[in-house]
Amino acid sequence: MNQKRNIPISLPSMGQDEWEALKEPIFSGWITQGPRVKEFENLFAETHRVKHALAVSNCTTALHLALVALGIKEGDEVLVPAFTWVSTANAVMYCNATPVFVDVDPVTFNINPEEILKKITPRTKAIIPVHLFGLCADIEAIKRIAPNLKIVEDGACAAGSALDGKPAGSLGDIGCFSFHPRKSVTTGEGGMLTTNDDQLADTLNKLRNHGASISEEQRHKGPKPYILPEFDFVGFNYRMTDLQGALGVVQLKKLDKFIEERNERANFYNKNLASIEWLRTPSYGARFKHGWQSYVLFVDETRSPINRNELMEFLQQKGISTRPGTHAVHMLGFYKNTYRINASDYPGAFQSNEYSMAIPLHNRMVAEDYEYVVEVLKTL
Ligand SMILES: Cc1ncc(COP(=O)(O)O)c(C=O)c1O
Repeated sequence: MNQKRNIPISLPSMGQDEWEALKEPIFSGWITQGPRVKEFENLFAETHRVKHALAVSNCTTALHLALVALGIKEGDEVLVPAFTWVSTANAVMYCNATPVFVDVDPVTFNINPEEILKKITPRTKAIIPVHLFGLCADIEAIKRIAPNLKIVEDGACAAGSALDGKPAGSLGDIGCFSFHPRKSVTTGEGGMLTTNDDQLADTLNKLRNHGASISEEQRHKGPKPYILPEFDFVGFNYRMTDLQGALGVVQLKKLDKFIEERNERANFYNKNLASIEWLRTPSYGARFKHGWQSYVLFVDETRSPINRNELMEFLQQKGISTRPGTHAVHMLGFYKNTYRINASDYPGAFQSNEYSMAIPLHNRMVAEDYEYVVEVLKTL
């Protein structure tokens, strides 16, 4: 076996190109939302085949704005998968609305469309399907089952993913993306909203900038910079900086290459881990283009020599970082206590919470790293 390695779960892939790109906003003096953010938005809209892309400070603020723009308010219910990052549900709380959990399929880790109908009431206004780990939720099935619900795609992990040839972010009413360093393309922190609806785009554009009728760049560079704009909404300051925009442009141009490399490595894992009968590798249909934000296994503890947590500890000792895929939000203190939910109420999310395990997958790994991960897993 190779000598001991130290393989992080994820590592941003940045270098000289990103470093160079930062110089322009730094030396120009325009560093808040401006021309580099605009360039990033245009490129994102083009690559995700949507009419509008609007950059924000992160995906959590994108989710919040999406719900505000759709008019979600106190008394409304919004469906969210029970297995996702906590901010999917938190965004609903920010609107004083009620998140209603829907169970997930522990094979895809995504929302189970068959569970949706059971959760719809006259108060249900919207659904936030999550494209977890880069695999799109089946939005087409959701549209058939719940044609009257507004759809906000939580595509935090899904830049470059697609369903039936249509990019994530173009499938629902509004798409939300993250550029946190654990995502395939990163701007440190950062987010993007996508929509094909002109009216929603206009509202989102104002909401992210305090509700102002025009952007700071338009005002400062226009003929009357001394006239402050009108404010017709209670907005937020959820802007992205031009420093991040500059990074985003460079990163986004590498997205196809990043996904291609990740896909190759995911296939390597799929092939080489298939013989371990107590590990289930990711499985999904031909309609889906996986973006491989993470590579997440399912540990079958009825057959594994050690349990999932012991396995994570064992791999940590061998220099291989792992994480649970994500968490079951209905099992987190706030949601469990506020809505008096039992862990067993959502068996798919419970199983995903207990038995999922992400292993390292990122663009700075070399072949020997992947081989080492497989070799170590095969020693058990
Ligand atoms: C499914 C999901 N939704 C939302 C978020 C929040 O993204 P951000 O960190 O950009 O706010 C994440 C972050 O990991 C996520 O995985």
